[in-house]
Amino acid sequence: MSGREIFSPQARQRAARFMAERGHAVRKGNGGNGHGRTLVLDPAKLARFEPVRHRLATQIAEGGLPTRRRRVEKREILNVADLTIHFGGVHALDGVNLSARTAEIAGVIGPNGAGKTTFFNCLSGLLTPDRGQISFDGHRLNGSPATRGRHGLGRTFQTPRLFGTLSVLDNLIFGCRTADSARREYVFDPGLRRISHRERSVRLARMVGFRGDLAAPAGSLPFGDLRTVELARALCGAPSLLMLDEPASGLDVGQAEDFVGLLRSLSDLGLSILLIEHDMSLVMGICDHITVLDFGQVIAEGTPAEIQRNELVIEAYLGRAD
Ligand SMILES: Nc1ncnc2c1ncn2[C@@H]1O[C@H](COP(=O)(O)OP(=O)(O)O)[C@@H](O)[C@H]1O
Ligand SMILES: [Mg+2]
Repeated sequence: MSGREIFSPQARQRAARFMAERGHAVRKGNGGNGHGRTLVLDPAKLARFEPVRHRLATQIAEGGLPTRRRRVEKREILNVADLTIHFGGVHALDGVNLSARTAEIAGVIGPNGAGKTTFFNCLSGLLTPDRGQISFDGHRLNGSPATRGRHGLGRTFQTPRLFGTLSVLDNLIFGCRTADSARREYVFDPGLRRISHRERSVRLARMVGFRGDLAAPAGSLPFGDLRTVELARALCGAPSLLMLDEPASGLDVGQAEDFVGLLRSLSDLGLSILLIEHDMSLVMGICDHITVLDFGQVIAEGTPAEIQRNELVIEAYLGRAD
């Protein structure tokens, strides 16, 4: 797989019209890149994802997230400097800098093999980088993945990982126990701390859209349910930063739309989210800020609009113009 997005000429035309309507259009000389090219997105999908930002309360209320917005503070929670790791001759990460803020969704994108998952593995403690500093919530981040979890770093995996023989409910309760033993508050819903592990688990399972049997062994779940339960499990641990590795892969557009809505409202409630995602329409639709990796290096960072017209990004995804 090349990781490139290829669209038909008709789709490109529709996209161009759609982008123009949205004020995203970049014409020659307009974007400051000298070529006038822009990343082409799937306009139908973008049209579904973007508005979700603005109509969340109804959908989430049933699941139990607080509907009244508290004042949320935006501040830097993660700062990564010069992160570097190699595997033999492969420079999987090479001097990567990145920061993330509370109440924001930061996207990490890049072609296959760019180093995105490796970046998450270094943050969560599964890999030890050769070089670099990670500061999280004002402290130097180190220790085992479990220790980092207790400090508020939550994550899901590209292939969901749960205790397969434990029930869905027990997987979630396990997450809640970890949160309580580390005395963590739920930034997105402080009231959760006051209810039992069981109630909390049920509420979070429903909130992420799990409609299946909570008593079923996690190992017996179909893939889509594994994804939602893994997200619920991460939330049970009361993270302040949630890292999601391609969470929407395998979801249909309708499920992805619900999912995007959920992420947006969690971040609006104060959670910081780092999102690896290959679906450009989804990324551009919901992220506040995007960092682009290619061959282990940051080749661009900025707002979705800036990234879409960045010549290096376009080259990485679509190849050179000449
Ligand atoms: N454990 C490993 N051992 C050797 N090479 C690895 C390992 N993990 C990742 N790589 C290599 O590092 C590069 C980045 O991989 P990865 O972080 O998985 O990329 P992405 O998630 O962006 O697709 C790739 O070239 C990959 O083959
Ligand atoms: Mg990956």
